Amino acid sequence: MNNWNFFREALKNFRSTGAIARASPVLIKHLIGSIPSDRPLTVVELGPGEGCVTRALLGTLHPRSTLTAFEINAAFVERLQLIADERLRVIPIGADRLTDHFSPGSVDFVVSSLPLSMIDQSVKQRIIRQSQQVLAPGGEYLQYQYALQDYGLLKDSFSHVSVRFTLANLPPAFVYSCSLGLV
Ligand SMILES: C[S@@+](CC[C@H](N)C(=O)[O-])C[C@H]1O[C@@H](n2cnc3c(N)ncnc32)[C@H](O)[C@@H]1O
Repeated sequence: MNNWNFFREALKNFRSTGAIARASPVLIKHLIGSIPSDRPLTVVELGPGEGCVTRALLGTLHPRSTLTAFEINAAFVERLQLIADERLRVIPIGADRLTDHFSPGSVDFVVSSLPLSMIDQSVKQRIIRQSQQVLAPGGEYLQYQYALQDYGLLKDSFSHVSVRFTLANLPPAFVYSCSLGLV
């Protein structure tokens, strides 16, 4: 799917897509650049869209890692299912069903492109709470956003939250790295 097709799909479903263009390569690097590739990891992706972050993750993850992607848009799910990589599992349901598929402490990284500011407060809180639950000690929740609207929610939910900003995206974006710390 090229940028134009992504744009058309985004216009059809603007509230759930929350973007007009795919994440840029620079933004993707800021988002997933800290994920190690030298060991097998369990990684979950929330809101993969047509898969630009998914493909970058598959390009860097260890051959014995797994990547599970939760996506609600059927057109995007169809595109994701064309990615031929046995590490990838595409789940066509909402990110607020994370704990149906993962047990507590079983995930190393949650990588989210979800448009948090456009998701209902109760659903958003469920997604963040479930992300906390499934993360292993030392695991990280990585998220990009176009505004700092949900900084407070993330600060209240994780013990460490750092934010970076990049102009190299349309529109410019913030990247959060959140962790619960080691227990
Ligand atoms: C901004 S797009 C991200 C696209 C791509 N990952 C990127 O970075 O360019 C957000 C995606 O989140 C998906 N989405 C929105 N709410 C969701 C939810 N509750 N569960 C799973 N996916 C959701 C949308 O369908 C859309 O594909």
